[in-house]
Amino acid sequence: MKQERLKAVAQYIEKEDRVADIGCDHAYLSIYLVKMQICKSVVASDIHPNALEIAKKNIEKVGLAIPTLLSDGVENLDQTKLNTLILSGMGTSTILHILKNVDKNYIKKLVLQSNNDLPLLRKECQKMGYSLEEEQVVFEKGHYYVIGKYTLKKKRLNIREIHFGLYKKENNAYYGELKKEYQTILKKVRRKHILKRLKIRWKLYLLKKYL
Ligand SMILES: C[S@@+](CC[C@H](N)C(=O)[O-])C[C@H]1O[C@@H](n2cnc3c(N)ncnc32)[C@H](O)[C@@H]1O
Repeated sequence: MKQERLKAVAQYIEKEDRVADIGCDHAYLSIYLVKMQICKSVVASDIHPNALEIAKKNIEKVGLAIPTLLSDGVENLDQTKLNTLILSGMGTSTILHILKNVDKNYIKKLVLQSNNDLPLLRKECQKMGYSLEEEQVVFEKGHYYVIGKYTLKKKRLNIREIHFGLYKKENNAYYGELKKEYQTILKKVRRKHILKRLKIRWKLYLLKKYL
């Protein structure tokens, strides 16, 4: 598997995990997890029949036995047979929509890679009882991707962590990029929109400690 982003997702999967790769698309990650014997079991699921057909063909090609399932989120999945969900390459609203039906009695870990609105994702997961335990940033093809491991451990993020994640020195370039983005937005917001400007300045203030 070539994608560093997906390899980073795989780094949060462990030997005892029984995983559903929700939104598996062409099943590259599911195949990697099984091929490398990273965890106990994997089921590859997707809402789109076409994606799942390609997933099945890819799985056949490599000669692995990975179950596939057509499902909107966890709808058709038997959560009693799982303990870990991967939701990667989707937006925060889709991820949160799917997580509404997660059964915490069985699902002990979420590995999430959202393409947008990470503060909302971190905050809502925390409300659901899944706290951000570890996070890493991967730079690939001109984009920064943030991958988070969320567990049922009781750990509350502070406001800075909700907005910018768990501090890691090696993420300096990423924080620098966020700073540039906010500065660009600030330039575009007209002077009369005082509240909007204050909000952006406040985020820049929070970010300062990470830089
Ligand atoms: C951009 S792809 C990401 C594929 C892969 N997970 C990755 O990270 O590269 C998003 C996939 O999520 C699937 N998807 C979107 N909404 C879904 C839902 N509610 N339930 C299951 N799959 C969904 C799409 O069909 C698509 O295959």
